[in-house]
Amino acid sequence: MSALVDWDGVFADTPRRSYVPAAVWGNDDVRIDRDTDPEAWAEAVAADIPLVTQMDDGMPGGSLIPTSSSSQPSLVRHMLEQLDVDPSHDILEIGTGTGWSTALLATALTAGRVTSIEVDPLVAIQAQKSLHDADLKPSLIVGDGLLGYREGAPYHRLIATMAVRNVPYAWVEQVRPKGVILTPWGTAFHNSGLLRLVVAADGTASGRFVGNVNFMWARSQRPRFETRRFVGDVIADPSAGRVRHMTTDPRPRQEEHADFAIGLRLPDVEQRTFFGSGAHAGEFTTWYADGQSWASVDYVPDAPSFEVNEGGPRDLWREIEAAYQAWRARGEPPREEHGLTVTVDGQWTWHDGPLGRVDCGPSILRKAL
Ligand SMILES: C[S@@+](CC[C@H](N)C(=O)[O-])C[C@H]1O[C@@H](n2cnc3c(N)ncnc32)[C@H](O)[C@@H]1O
Repeated sequence: MSALVDWDGVFADTPRRSYVPAAVWGNDDVRIDRDTDPEAWAEAVAADIPLVTQMDDGMPGGSLIPTSSSSQPSLVRHMLEQLDVDPSHDILEIGTGTGWSTALLATALTAGRVTSIEVDPLVAIQAQKSLHDADLKPSLIVGDGLLGYREGAPYHRLIATMAVRNVPYAWVEQVRPKGVILTPWGTAFHNSGLLRLVVAADGTASGRFVGNVNFMWARSQRPRFETRRFVGDVIADPSAGRVRHMTTDPRPRQEEHADFAIGLRLPDVEQRTFFGSGAHAGEFTTWYADGQSWASVDYVPDAPSFEVNEGGPRDLWREIEAAYQAWRARGEPPREEHGLTVTVDGQWTWHDGPLGRVDCGPSILRKAL
């Protein structure tokens, strides 16, 4: 990857504090107000942490699900470097947010142009104001970035700053051959892949995962249960399950790369883990659900066996175990040995090259937007 942009200089010229709004939520989800506590605000903005800038799509009375943020500065830098920007590029950014990453791109370009799309009108207005105050003039669009922006195509680079489950084919169509699409990607099961695709002349795009990121979802691709209570809501009657005991320790299935790989095989299953405290410290229960079927597994340190509960037509825990064993049979490859290919008909994930397809779950091949 060439380094045609002096990112140190660009970051120095484009301070984050000029884009972060007055109210933010830091690592511990505590709201910090610039007007009432300017020191805490300045400290949070200077720290290498993500700052949530909007909850619940800006609707009052929600369950405090983060919906817009200023991403962690070191991660923003990593992503911009992965994008391999030339100052003459035309770049499409999806997810303007505060406008900080838009500003970094606009500052890096000398001859090229940045177009940035934000789905939330109020977030977009705030970003527009910050960019205007900094005398930067990217094209700002309010709309659904999953459709791209045909009027400005073709682009040399496309970067998304929210996670998708399906890479929209519109993105592939709007990026030039040899151009790069960099996007956070995940399954409902596990959201941690930074995907770097290269567009080919035949209208497909293919590439590997190049890192571990956890971004908020694109609005229309949020997993179904994200805003609801899991147990008692998604899983209506947890006491009605089929109970069995197993001696297999569930923990290795939950380690980062295993969890990612299981998600490739069971992309529509969601999971939540609840950790015990006090006398139950060290214990946890993980719940899995697809809307019809569910499973839970209880972990208790040093226990001779672990309880599994299941309900509904699918035997979800056995499917998770089969997906885990399939990953082990491939030699336990890390996330970065996996990749994804997008064609006009949909997407598939693979290990060790596009022929090594791994998404054997029934629901992965959907037509992308
Ligand atoms: C992590 S934030 C963006 C961070 C931003 N780049 C920055 O530097 O501040 C993700 C943004 O994506 C926006 N978003 C979600 N779905 C979108 C969509 N379909 N099209 C465009 N923007 C979307 C959210 O409203 C949110 O503002």
